[in-house]
Amino acid sequence: MRILVKGGTIVTASEEFQGDVLVEGETIRAVGQHLDLPADQVIDAAGKYVLPGGVDQHTHFSALCNVGDQDTAGYETTDAVVVGGTTTIVDYAPQDPKTGLLDSIDYRINVRAKDKACVDFALHGMVTEIMDSMFDEIAQFPQKGISSIKIFMAYNGSPLHVDDGTFFRILECSRKAGVTVFVHAENGEILDFLRRQCVKNGQTTPHYHYVSRPPFTEAEAVRRAIYLAGQTDTPLYIAHMTCRPALEALLQAKGTGQRVYGETCTHYLTTTKEALDNPDFNEAAKFVCSPALRDQEDCDALWAALNSGLLNAVVSDHCGIDVANLKQVGRNDFTQIPNGAPGAADRMHVIWTEGVAKGRISRQKFVEITAAQPAKINGIYPRKGHIAVGCDADLVILDPDYRGVIRLEDNPNGVDYNIYEGREQLGRVETVLLRGRVVVRDAQFVGKYGQGQFIPAKMYGSCYENRA
Ligand code: URP
Ligand code: ZN
Ligand code: ZN
Repeated sequence: MRILVKGGTIVTASEEFQGDVLVEGETIRAVGQHLDLPADQVIDAAGKYVLPGGVDQHTHFSALCNVGDQDTAGYETTDAVVVGGTTTIVDYAPQDPKTGLLDSIDYRINVRAKDKACVDFALHGMVTEIMDSMFDEIAQFPQKGISSIKIFMAYNGSPLHVDDGTFFRILECSRKAGVTVFVHAENGEILDFLRRQCVKNGQTTPHYHYVSRPPFTEAEAVRRAIYLAGQTDTPLYIAHMTCRPALEALLQAKGTGQRVYGETCTHYLTTTKEALDNPDFNEAAKFVCSPALRDQEDCDALWAALNSGLLNAVVSDHCGIDVANLKQVGRNDFTQIPNGAPGAADRMHVIWTEGVAKGRISRQKFVEITAAQPAKINGIYPRKGHIAVGCDADLVILDPDYRGVIRLEDNPNGVDYNIYEGREQLGRVETVLLRGRVVVRDAQFVGKYGQGQFIPAKMYGSCYENRA
């Protein structure tokens, strides 16, 4: 099957030009102007942008909620992600209870995602239960196509928390294997104290979620993580950065030549902590995520950090935790609210609207932070995140003239809310190709459940390449 995408404006992280893309089978065969080549199907992209399919390197599908023992929405809900213009996720593979890293990864590929995933997916290992075996397991990541591992400095008192000694050992063995370490950087001990103090004082509403997670607790952990990674000379990737003091720590470390990188999330760029002040528990609980939402000045600083290259990517940190059931656990105590919100289906539209359409970032920057860099960091570039001969034919055709409003009912995400509900949407993903097949037409999913494949990653992702 040959598909010719004709007359669009092709945008990559480094170029923008009028042209055509010829797709044959699962791969891009030709890119150029006025391609006069036979095809089974021609897609007219005149007046539209042709972008690489989005790569969301931070999602939690079918993962244990960080409070309680129920799973987040699973891979069968990733149809909405494709409709939102993301064709690859790098999903977290937490350890299943009493199970090692590798078996948990296998189970995810062979059972959880099988016949369900609508997006292609790579995986990060994720420590959710410290085991002696895990250091040897990390050494085997290269054979499994897993190029990264996440550890949590926060969530004390839960099995997710990793102490500094274990973190240090993980840094050491990851460097030897070419694995990139992703860190959730918040000072767990101080958070623990502040949260307990709030509850003791009867301060139990979602408002106290951000009161008990002040920016300095993030900044301190970022500094400590950077310092420890510097001792082992391991590249470090800081997940979901939110605030100015944390960005300052990243900037200073980069100034010394250390290989440190960071991402932020759609919601930290576009939503402030006042969302947690809503007197309606349900409305406020939707926005309980960690680190907490911050101030407008922090949102502004995050946009600036993306433009300067200090931050490398925008991710969703998607967690399908419904408000009708799972978030209710914390109705009388915010510390019990499972953390996280859905967003993988909205990341591309929200960043295009708030970033490109409103003049905060260029179109090439958009591709860089939503597709190319995440693919590079995770060792799946240029197969993913780029438009060139030989790349997977993952293409997004976006209509920049669309004007609308984000509504859950237009792209149901498998959860009972959308944190961007009612926000204006400028531009819309109309057509999506996943490895050469049209899976979204007229903004509707027309693909198959189970079409998504596991994408093995190469070790020594881009965090190992550059000395900043
Ligand atoms: O609140 C969040 N971010 N939940 C997901 C787990 C994590 O920390 O990434
Ligand atoms: Zn995290
Ligand atoms: Zn996360």
